[in-house]
Amino acid sequence: MPAPSVPRRVAVGGPAPLHCVRTIPMTNDQLREQVRELLLKNVRDGYSGLLGQSYCYIAPAPKPYPFQFFWDTCFHVIMLARLGEYELAQRNLRSLFAMQHADGFVGHMIFWRQVLPVRRSDVLQARPSWQSLRPHMSALIQPPFAAVALHTLFEESADRVYLGEMYARVKRHHDWLARTRDFDGDGLLTIITPFESGMDWKPSYDPVLGYDERHTPRRLYTSRLYWKTMAVDFDNFARRYDIGEIRRRGRFLVKDAGINAIYALDLLCMEKLAPIVGDDPAIYRARRAQVLASMLRLMYDEEDAAFYDVREPGSEKIRIRTPTIFFPLAIPELDQAVAERVLAAHFDNVDEFATALPLPSVALHDTAFYPGHTPFIWRGPMWAVNNWFIYHALRHRGFTEQAGKLRSSLRAAIEQSGFREYYDPLTGEGHGARDFTWSGLALDMCQAGNAGPAGLQGRADAGTAVDDAPGQA
Ligand code: GLC
Repeated sequence: MPAPSVPRRVAVGGPAPLHCVRTIPMTNDQLREQVRELLLKNVRDGYSGLLGQSYCYIAPAPKPYPFQFFWDTCFHVIMLARLGEYELAQRNLRSLFAMQHADGFVGHMIFWRQVLPVRRSDVLQARPSWQSLRPHMSALIQPPFAAVALHTLFEESADRVYLGEMYARVKRHHDWLARTRDFDGDGLLTIITPFESGMDWKPSYDPVLGYDERHTPRRLYTSRLYWKTMAVDFDNFARRYDIGEIRRRGRFLVKDAGINAIYALDLLCMEKLAPIVGDDPAIYRARRAQVLASMLRLMYDEEDAAFYDVREPGSEKIRIRTPTIFFPLAIPELDQAVAERVLAAHFDNVDEFATALPLPSVALHDTAFYPGHTPFIWRGPMWAVNNWFIYHALRHRGFTEQAGKLRSSLRAAIEQSGFREYYDPLTGEGHGARDFTWSGLALDMCQAGNAGPAGLQGRADAGTAVDDAPGQA
């Protein structure tokens, strides 16, 4: 079958009001083919002499993200599964787990070939060792999406042999998380540096870092925010990433609403996959119930109708609004009345998240909000992953209109600016890395019949109303 013609990619420079911006609409088929083309272009397939291992992964962007990243790989697996590229998806996930430690740990970055990181200070994100300046894998975690990825791949490919192979590895990873990162026995994971959430400079971490200015600097090395964050990484590095010691020190301990909602969905996928491979799902069900109960107890603020990140020790809510205040809505057992309150208070609020192209990565009224390019990412611009995750959460709950806004917004940004790392939520202008893969998640939002991460059944409209008309914004 001939490939459908693909529209020219458009990158519109300089901020301009939305109505003046030229966009080139694309059909769902054209979107799929552009995503496929981009993913295939970013494949890194080879053999690492350094590690004596073959690898195959997709770089999130040729520059500045040449490594294999944990949650990026999970997004790639989901996209590849939706595209029917099963073998490539399988190799990507296998590669991510190839360096798994005996105790189940998998680091957030694998440096297959290059010894030094792009940003030299990232050396601090790996455990120091005498043999090498930097080991092959970082010592940090990233949001645990591996079971969601495996579940999507199985849903699409029905490959039980592969499921059997990878389930065992993902299970060990989950056991490691529960054993090592549930510090307080409340079921919630604690992160030890901002970079573990995947949302590197998320403004809700400012108070924990002691960054009281609460604005967004434009330059990296001259800013206090940078050095305060580096001090956390240096502290962890100096403790050789000994979790017991880091916990006792208590310099940066956060229960993040985003990572824990993702964890709950990953547990749901483990629960669904377990019986298929003859394992007992009960442990995952129990962990998930505990996560939700603790989120309601520690993170949910009744008066503000928001789920906040929590600072430990002391379980203090950090009342800074970012899109992760909505993330727990993805947990199916969360009461619909709570979901309605959170949405009503914040989603359509013009001081907060109702921008021309939602969702901004921090509420508009926040002093940190900055919509354009700075090295301090996640402090204003729209990110595909937020739209994708919340889109599915809302659709499954029957909030079709709000979900549709998130889908159209991401789609409009891609049509205007191409595949960029993040977008100005006021103008749609693209910023950050080029040929960045995450916007490809749009295909998982536009393809009819996709039940989203964890394969939840929709309350109202799963399988329908997800096809945008060409160019619809
Ligand atoms: C940035 C993001 C992180 C991502 C990485 C590679 O550091 O904040 O979440 O994994 O880029 O795309």
